[in-house]
Amino acid sequence: MPVSDIDANTQFPVPAGVFAETVTSVEHYTDRLFKFRITRPASFRFRSGEFVMIGLPNAEKPVFRAYSIASPSWDEELEFYSIKVPGGPLTEHLQKIKVGDTVLMRKKPTGTLVNDALLPGKRLWMFSTGTGIAPFASLIRDPETYEKFDEVILTHTCREVGELTYGKELVSQVKDDPLCGEFAQGLRLYSTTTREDYPFMGRITDLMKSGKVFEDLGLPPITPETDRGMICGSMEMLRDTKATLESFGLVEGANNRPDTFVVERAFVD
Ligand code: A2P
Repeated sequence: MPVSDIDANTQFPVPAGVFAETVTSVEHYTDRLFKFRITRPASFRFRSGEFVMIGLPNAEKPVFRAYSIASPSWDEELEFYSIKVPGGPLTEHLQKIKVGDTVLMRKKPTGTLVNDALLPGKRLWMFSTGTGIAPFASLIRDPETYEKFDEVILTHTCREVGELTYGKELVSQVKDDPLCGEFAQGLRLYSTTTREDYPFMGRITDLMKSGKVFEDLGLPPITPETDRGMICGSMEMLRDTKATLESFGLVEGANNRPDTFVVERAFVD
C-alpha cells in the first residue's frame, strides 16, 4: 500500500514497508491472554516459527512490537497470541481490537526458531512458557516438522491453569485436523503450572534437572545423539533453559550454523 493511503479506520497514513490488515477474529482466554487473527497479504511469505513486527494505526509513528506468527506458513490467515500488559504501549490498545479493525504489520519476517536451524534428530523438544508457545503453535501445524522428527514434545509452563487452555485446544485441533492430523501422530503436549494446583507442576528447568519430565513422558533423558531443542519464553527462562540443555551436551545453533538447539525470546511490552 502506498505511503499516502489513509487507513479507513484512522486519520493516520500507513507507514512505508508496512501492511495494513483486517482483524478476522479475537478470542480472550484470561484477563492476561488473548488470540487474534488477521487477513494475510497475498505477497507475504514466512517460515513457520518466524516473527514479525505488529502495530496499530493509532499514531503518526505507531509503536511496533515483535510477535511470533502462531499460524503455519500454509494458512491463509495470520494468527497471533498476546499477553495484555497493563499500561503496555502496544498491548494496552491491542487488547481492545475487534473484528474489522486494522492491524499494521511490517513486511519482513525473521527468527531462529525454524526447522532449518536444527540438525536432523529423532526427537524435537519445544520448550515454552506463557505466550512463548506462539512460534510452536505455528511449527506443530507444519507438516515439515514431522518430516524432520519422529517425535515432537511441546512443553508449556504457565503460572495458572487457565493459561494452559490455548496450548491444549491447539494440540487437540492439530490431532483432529485433516491436513496435520495424519502427520502429527508423534506430537505430545506436556503442560505444567507453577502457581496453581495442577496434576503436573514445576518449572521445566527443574523438571528436567530432577528427571521428572522424562519419567512422566516415559522417555530417556535428553542427549545430543537423539534430541533437539527449541526455546521460547522470558529472558530468564531462555537463559536457564539454555543452560539446562547445555548441561545435557546440546549446543546452540543458528540459521547459518545449524546445531542441536535454538533460542528465541518471547516478545512482550
Ligand atoms: P514461576 O511462577 O515459578 O515464576 P511469566 O509469566 O513470568 O513469564 O512466567 C511464565 C512461566 O514461566 C511461569 O510458570 C514461571 O514460573 C516460569 N518461569 C519464569 N522464569 C523461569 C525460569 N527462569 N526458568 C524456567 N521457568 C521460568
